[in-house]
Amino acid sequence: MRIDGKTRLLCLIGDPVEHSLSPMMHNLSFEELGLNYVYMAFRVTKERLETVIEGFRAIGVKGFNVTTPLKRDIVVFLDKLDPRAAKIGVVNTVLNDHGEFIGFNTDGVGVVKALEDRDLKLDGLSIVLLGAGSAGRAIAYALSEIPCRLTILNRTAEKAKSLAEELSDGLAEVSWKQLTIDSLTECVPRADILINATSVGMKPKDAETPVPKRLLRKELIVFDIVYNPLETRLLKEAREVGATTLDGLEMLLHQGIEAFKIWFNLEPPVGLLKKAIEEVRRRRLGCR
Ligand code: ATR
Repeated sequence: MRIDGKTRLLCLIGDPVEHSLSPMMHNLSFEELGLNYVYMAFRVTKERLETVIEGFRAIGVKGFNVTTPLKRDIVVFLDKLDPRAAKIGVVNTVLNDHGEFIGFNTDGVGVVKALEDRDLKLDGLSIVLLGAGSAGRAIAYALSEIPCRLTILNRTAEKAKSLAEELSDGLAEVSWKQLTIDSLTECVPRADILINATSVGMKPKDAETPVPKRLLRKELIVFDIVYNPLETRLLKEAREVGATTLDGLEMLLHQGIEAFKIWFNLEPPVGLLKKAIEEVRRRRLGCR
């Protein structure tokens, strides 16, 4: 990579960011496509967010990604939101459009694209989504644009209910229930796809799983967006029963591809990115 006086900056802000794979992915794309940009990761706390955004305006960054814990807080510092991000209330990608900072959410689309990338046609399928937090909302909104049957289960019933109500105008048939062992027992055996967008199973509580193994079966497709650990207990047990599994790196890859398209109006080198992510997966699972 050659950095010169014309090189422009893109970056990730959040806390923590040190282990993010976004810099690797985007810098690989810049190099491959000969774009004079560099992507870095900066640890930014909530207290510093406003100052950082002012600085980004002053130096004219091309755009940036936003991760935990800033995805909701960033909204008030932006000039405009893409309609979907406005509804979700959560932003993970910002474009500097000639001085105007516009917020987008590519997390939900990332999950849909990852599923479609497995040659899955989601129309008519029954999808159980666990979680109605930031990630759950983004995924639910993306799925609502597909004529599927979506059931949202969340520990706090009120959040599942209001999310399902918000989606009533979409193409999907949406229902909701409180996330309990009874609702799981009722919904999971009938589902084609199970998506975990709760934090259950994430380190340090990686001995936990949101769904008992006895409810999993070979025909189920199980997507866990948690990526620390990469193979959660849910994914491990799904693999053991012969189910198809998708992990957090799949979502990372596809949300990154969608962010790249927003910034550059260009297709990134998808094959190369997939290879790089596969290599990371191989190394991480190798030292399980
Ligand atoms: P994220 O940005 O990762 O989506 P979040 O917005 O805090 O984080 O959402 C976390 C999700 O995990 C929520 O759906 C949360 O359920 P509540 O809405 O009831 O809080 C869910 N979650 C966290 N811990 C959980 C647990 N022990 N059991 C079930 N769900 C849990």
